[in-house]
Amino acid sequence: MAKKNLDWQKSMQLKLDYNNMMADYVGIEQGFTDQDINSNKKLVDKACKIVKENRGKGMMCWTELPYNQKEIVADIISTAKNIKKKFDNFVVLGIGGSALGPIAAFQALCHLRHNELPKKVRKAPKLYVEDNVDPERMAALLDVIDVEKTMFNVITKSGATSETMAQYLIIMDILKKKFGEKAKDHIIATTSEFKGNLIKLAKEEGLKTFYIPDGVGGRFSELCPVGLLAAAVVGIDIKELLAGAAYMDKLCKIKDVRKNPALISALFQYLAMQRGKNISVMMPYADSLKYIADWYCQLWGESLGKAVDNNGNEVFVGQTPVKALGVTDQHSQVQLYREGPFDKVITIIGVENFRSTVEIPNGCEQFPDVSFLSGHTMNELINTEREATEYALTTAKRLNHTILVPEVNAFTVGQLLFFFEMETAFAGAMLNIDTFNQPGVEGGKNATYALFGRKGYEKTKEEMDNAPKKNGDYII
Ligand code: PA5
Repeated sequence: MAKKNLDWQKSMQLKLDYNNMMADYVGIEQGFTDQDINSNKKLVDKACKIVKENRGKGMMCWTELPYNQKEIVADIISTAKNIKKKFDNFVVLGIGGSALGPIAAFQALCHLRHNELPKKVRKAPKLYVEDNVDPERMAALLDVIDVEKTMFNVITKSGATSETMAQYLIIMDILKKKFGEKAKDHIIATTSEFKGNLIKLAKEEGLKTFYIPDGVGGRFSELCPVGLLAAAVVGIDIKELLAGAAYMDKLCKIKDVRKNPALISALFQYLAMQRGKNISVMMPYADSLKYIADWYCQLWGESLGKAVDNNGNEVFVGQTPVKALGVTDQHSQVQLYREGPFDKVITIIGVENFRSTVEIPNGCEQFPDVSFLSGHTMNELINTEREATEYALTTAKRLNHTILVPEVNAFTVGQLLFFFEMETAFAGAMLNIDTFNQPGVEGGKNATYALFGRKGYEKTKEEMDNAPKKNGDYII
């Protein structure tokens, strides 16, 4: 699916710099050694084997998304073309894995003020991703969009998520009142082909439908129609996104841990967890990648945060993912990262070439503390600050590594997404857990169903009714 030649692809390959995970740089108490890498060969080989054997099967069908969607991609591109012609707004209704990927790709690959650009410059609909059931937010959305010029995309794999189905009910009601039978021309459903209510409703209503493959879990679904439709609508080159994922996949198939970026990164995270480093900070130094950190938080947190291992033993593993933004959070969180507990691994994402260059002009010569900035660019400033933070963390003996993105484009973002997905799969295999389930999320969903009186959840309701009542003395 690649458009560009191999040399260009090579020049766009992400680099993982793990120097600052090593004892030579952060000291022997915190850092790892070559011996740590070598002595864990069995663990690494086993993780590789598990991932290899499960590729394209069970809940690992996401590994094949870069390769098996030719017809779907064609359908998405032609659907997006029609949407672009007819509509000014594209609104995603979804939550969790059905929202975080579309948000991340939009922020990374569109103009950072896309929705504010004049229509002529934007050349694509505005995108809104509604991933909450805050009534004020829904009301605010309806204040700013003209429903007549809006295409909605309801996305839920299970076809049952209360938040998304509530949004569906609200929007469908509005559409039907306004357009009657033509309501269906304003809403596309993306869901499981076989399970859940949304597919049944979509068939009843005659909605255009895209499917989320069975073996692709929500948080691994950005590269299927969940993410690809919204991306294509706002003008993202989705073939390049998939080509980038395929490129990274090749690297992640390498058995030698020192040449496989996702594998070595997973090993370090695993070893760090064994040493009680239970927080994983994701800190891109680029506004365009800000929401990649949000997407990563779901991927890492939901996949690795597990109570039991594959043998049924209680393990309570996982790292709490924390999102940060460079340089913004240097003035907020970095104090803690540098001087707080030794409980974190910090992943920095740097961009080598930004898509804009902004020069810092001369001025304020009477103040040398200000004028030293003149003659430089903001590009130099942000990357210098990134290097300075790496240095400051390293001298404070804090584990950190950096992923360098040559430039933010569809090909590199595809690599980035696939890198984190593979890293998660390898880390889960090392932890010997089910990386792809989410019983904790289901617990919350089921409790909501019970409280809302949904049929079939009477037992949960009874359990909740019998739970200890809140003590008023503890509420002040
Ligand atoms: O990763 C997951 O599977 C979940 O977090 C889901 O993405 C989230 O709960 C939304 O589910 P659904 O797409 O079924 O509405």
